[in-house]
Parts: sequence; structure tokens; C-alpha cells
Amino acid sequence: MPIHTSPNYWILETRHSAYAFGLNKSNLLSHCYWGKRLPFVKDYPAPFEPSGWASTDGYDHFIPEEYPGYAGTKYTDPTLKVTFADGVRDVVLSLVDFKTGGSPQPELALRFKDSAYPLQLTLHYRIHEEYDLIERWVTLENLGTESISVERAFSAKWTFPHGNGYSLTHMYGRHIDEFNMQREILTPGLKVIESRRIIPSHRAVPWFTVEREASENHGDVFFGTLAWSGNFKITAEVTEYASTRLSIGLNDWDFAWQLKPNEPLVTPSAISGYTPNGFGDASRIFHDYVRNELLPHGKVLHKILYNSWEATLFNVDETSQANLAEIAANMGVELFVMDDGWFHNRNWDNAGLGDWFPDAKKFPNGLGGLIKRVNDLGMDFGLWVEPEMVNPDSDLYRAHPDWVIHFPTRARTEARNQLILNMARVDVQDYIITTLDKILSENNIAFIKWDMNRPASEPGWQDAPGDPRELWVRYVYGLYRVWGELRRRHPNVIWQSCASGGGRPDFGILQFADQVWVSDNTEATKRLSIQEGFSQFMPAITMEAWVTDWGKETVPLEFRFHVSMCGSLGVGGNLLEWNQAERQMGADCIELYKSIRHIIQFGDQYRLIAPQKNNYSAVQYISKDKSEGVLFVFRTLIPDPFRFPVIHLRGLDPEALYSIEGFDQPRSGLAWMEAGVRVELKNLQSKVIRITRLTQS
Ligand code: DGJ
Repeated sequence: MPIHTSPNYWILETRHSAYAFGLNKSNLLSHCYWGKRLPFVKDYPAPFEPSGWASTDGYDHFIPEEYPGYAGTKYTDPTLKVTFADGVRDVVLSLVDFKTGGSPQPELALRFKDSAYPLQLTLHYRIHEEYDLIERWVTLENLGTESISVERAFSAKWTFPHGNGYSLTHMYGRHIDEFNMQREILTPGLKVIESRRIIPSHRAVPWFTVEREASENHGDVFFGTLAWSGNFKITAEVTEYASTRLSIGLNDWDFAWQLKPNEPLVTPSAISGYTPNGFGDASRIFHDYVRNELLPHGKVLHKILYNSWEATLFNVDETSQANLAEIAANMGVELFVMDDGWFHNRNWDNAGLGDWFPDAKKFPNGLGGLIKRVNDLGMDFGLWVEPEMVNPDSDLYRAHPDWVIHFPTRARTEARNQLILNMARVDVQDYIITTLDKILSENNIAFIKWDMNRPASEPGWQDAPGDPRELWVRYVYGLYRVWGELRRRHPNVIWQSCASGGGRPDFGILQFADQVWVSDNTEATKRLSIQEGFSQFMPAITMEAWVTDWGKETVPLEFRFHVSMCGSLGVGGNLLEWNQAERQMGADCIELYKSIRHIIQFGDQYRLIAPQKNNYSAVQYISKDKSEGVLFVFRTLIPDPFRFPVIHLRGLDPEALYSIEGFDQPRSGLAWMEAGVRVELKNLQSKVIRITRLTQS
């Protein structure tokens, strides 16, 4: 059993790691250990005891409470803050009991009650043993009769081995420039990473690593994420007593929740892990977890898609799409996706959102004709939607102007000429379920790209059943209900999550979507950096990557294909303008990808040379049984003379013999990893090199 319990001490063990906490003499639940799994139960340290701090601080600066409520002289960042009906803003929790259970993953739940008020808190832990991951969330319940106002309810506080000098890595960005990695030393005080936009947003990603001098392949790394598709907050804190901690959960900015009797608040899951083997291993752990545990179709190879957006923008009709489809099919594409512009009155971005039925001028006989032509070409058909949105110029808005997020006394700020439907409202949820269900039921649609193109403003919710500031959270739960119901009714449809590119990439959305549209920036050299950031927590199978015409004047088509082949390959260029040679190159690359995609989508990924730090890069994928692999090498722009550094392969069986494409002599896996391979490239040249195991070790 990976959970060891006693009345006052708990140890959660995974395959290689352990996490322990216990009650100290003052009955505070104190974090005790996180790191390598130790041989004996008695090996784990005792809880910290309060002793000898100055009256100017509270004990919390030294004692790492597992889930601190704001109370007393606690001045460090709490995970919970509430106001009781009589105005008291102080929460004093004592353990009532605990229980273990859970299947297939073991779970531990510890139940606490406030000493004077009817507040109950349950701390939940789920162990993902084989992934070395621990999942945490909390449930808050009101056992009384009067509402309790919850002003902060994070999912977890993670405490790192006592000391300072840790570095935090997080990601920041903007539209067309997502997933930039930032590593910084944590110093005393608080560092905050957050989203206030109703989606995680391009600006920040609900993901982190914390470590001291780790590298891609070595060193202790603590890493984690929040499975949440809305406003989140990460606070990393170093106290004056050199205690380093990180909290993660729902953002408490503009947040308040009326906790009513019989209506528990359940927070999203925080999932974290520890590895002694560097950033690369942390990523691979998450990659496996996502594929095996989260994705609806994580064991199904992704089809190579064509998307019409960059070719036709809003000018879609049966003929234009069918012409593209024919060329795409000849190149070997397997799924044809019609993007924006197909629905009622949608000729530009200023009208139509909300009216999800085919535009009568563009598709007088509905979508059936085009879908049949696509299917007759041997391809599946996919469609773009943006269900959470409405243009003021739409039948839906004219009928239901009150359905959008707004304050009645304020102007409704439009972004991209659109407003956001209040997904917290059940009538809005039902409308979207009914409308999309109709499209999916009446047409042979295999794939949906679900877009979301603006952040929230004027976050009002009239007639809210609780505090209107619950909107930020209830919106996301409404989204999950809609998407979950559609998935239940149409289980074979593959969904893609998009929010103006990579604005909603998170483990919450991966319950529904198998893919993420990572960025609207499809320029291949920039894309290399974006892909490196994305790969920190998401596997290649989720990374939809189109080859487009962006940068075609300078970047060779083959290079553009190679970049997109590092994920789930798609094509998005205007094929009508591709000459015969380009179409042939496309067909050749697609054929090659088909022969290696199982390695890329299901194998282990090793980032060998980082594009965010260099004008050259290398990334390798190797099948789980280590029998076949593929190495991608890129050089962007470096003045000559330049020699590509030796590339040390990873993840090979050291004793087995491997041949590497382009190298005469087979060598041991150990040799390719230690002595490495030499590759010469010119500027804007790339190579795909296959790795084949010849003998068993
Ligand atoms: C934003 C997406 O990121 C694009 O790929 C495209 O689907 C447009 N929206 C369509 O409006």
C-alpha cells in the first residue's frame, strides 16, 4: 500500500518518491518530507515544532503548514481565507478524522473542522504511483445554516526541502509569442504568476518547476500544474527563515464564494511530482500521465489534418473548400478541417458568432455536400466553432442580449467585435449543447476545433445565485459541463482546444480535447521555441502543428515540415498556390511522417539542444521499447564559420547496437549517447534522422 498512516503521521509513496506530513505537538498539520522514497517508515522526519521566534513574526514563517488558513499571527501566504457570517475572518482548523480508499489510484482524505464555526475542510490526496505524481484538491463544506464567504481556496501548498536558493521556472507570453520560459532565483518575499482573464491566457501558464541547480538531464526537480482552464494563481514564497513554498489554485483576485449549506466547493486538482533526473524527466512524466490518464483518446494516433484558415480566411464555400480538399487528399492528408466563416452571416469577424447553422449563401444545401466530397476523397471532416462567444450582430444576441457577461450600467467592451456568453448560466449552457449537438448529429463530423478568442471584461452576472464574483469559477464549470455533455453524446469526435492560439493549454481542458492549437504563429523558426516551451508539460501528441506559408520567402518548405513533424503534423498553407514540386515535397514529408508518427506521438521525448537558448536545436523521440527513434536537427541563422556541437543522443539501450541514418557504422547505444553524433547543417537547413536498434542488449 503506498499510503502509510498513523493517527498523526501520513506518508504517501510513489515508485521513486515520497511525500510526508504530520501533526505537531500543537496539532498543526506540518509538511515533513518530499523527495526520494526512503527504505523505512521511520526514516521520514518528524513535524516541525514551534520554538523561539520573535513576537514580530508568526510560527508560520518557520513551520510549513500543509494547508494554512488565515488566522492568528500567520503572516505568510495562506491557502484559505474565509469570512464567517458574524464578520470573523480567522479560521482555526483541527483534524477530525481521515480515511484511505480510492480506486484504481489510492487516495487519502483528511477532514478538519473549525473550532467555533460550521466550516468543514477536507484535504484530498490521490497517488499516481507509477508516475511519481501526487494530486491534491480540497472540499469546503458549510455544516451550518448561514452562508460563509470564501475569499481564497487554493488547491495545494507545496513545501520544498528546507532552505533557500531555489529557482522557479514558469512561462510567459502573448498572442503569437507563447510559452517563453523564465527561470529566476526565488528570494525572500512573494512571486505571483496568475491569470485574470477567464482563461489561463497567453500571458501565463499554470505550470512550474522549482529546483536548485538542476539541468535538463540531472538534478532534483519539483514540478506541477493545475488542472484548470480559468483564472489561476501560483504564489512562490521564501520566508525570512529560509522556508520555500509554492501555492497553486483558483485565483482569489476578484473572487468570493458564498459557501451555502449542502453546496460544497470542490477546487480543481493540483498535480505535482518530484524527480532526481532533471527537467527532461519531469516533462516525460507529465507526457506519460497526459497520454495515459487524461486524454480521451490518448492511445489513438492523430490524423494528419489540413486546416483552411490561413488559405481562405472567412471566404469559405463548398467549391473553395473542395478544391483545397482535393489537393490535400492527393498529398496524403487524412482529415480536412473547415475553419471560421461557414455559419450564418459570417463574412468577417464582426457578425455571426452564436448562430451555429450553415450560411445559406455559402452552403445553400447545408454542409452535407462538402462533407460527402471530403469523405469521398478518403478524408474525415472537421469543423471550427467558437461556442462561448457572440457577436452583437447575430440573431442570438438580438434575442438574448442579457446572456453575455456585462454590467447593465456599463458599456460592453468588445474585443474582436465579440462578447462572451455567460457560461455560468444554465440556459446558455443548454443552448450551446442543443445547437452543437444538432450539428454533430446531422453531419458526419469527426473533429471539432473549439476556439475562444477574447478575455473577459466587465465581469458582471445579474441574478447570480451566489456572489457574482463566483463567475470566474462557475464559468469554467459551465464550460466543462457543456463540453463533457457533448463528448458523452459524441464520444468518437476528436476535439482541439484553441484560444487565439495557445491561450487555454491546461490539464483541465485535456479531459475533453485531445489536441491544443499551440500558437497562431506558424512561422517555423519561432515555432521551434514555442514548441520547446509547450513540451515542458504537454506531450507531442497534443501539439497540433501546421505547415503554412508564413516565412516561405526565407524558410524552405522542408524545414517547415520538419518543425511541424515534431508534434501532430498538420498543413495550413494555401495549397492552391503550391506548385507541383511543393505539393510533391509535401506528399513526401507526409509519407515520412506517417512512418514515424507512432514514435513521436507515443514515444519518449528528449530535448537535446534548446531553441530558446540557441540558433540551432535538436530534439529526439524514442519508442517506449527503445527499438526505434527519430532525431530532428535544425539550424536557423548563425554566421559562418559554425560547427554544430556534438549531439548526444538519449534514452537508448546502452548495450544494444544501433544504426543512425547517414552514419556508416552501427555503434552501441552507449557510444551514440556518450560520443554522440556530428551533424553539419547550413543556415535554415534541417534533418530528420532515423535511429534503428539492430540487436537486443
Ligand atoms: C483564432 C485561431 O487561433 C485561428 O487558428 C483561427 O481559427 C481563427 N481564430 C478563426 O477566427
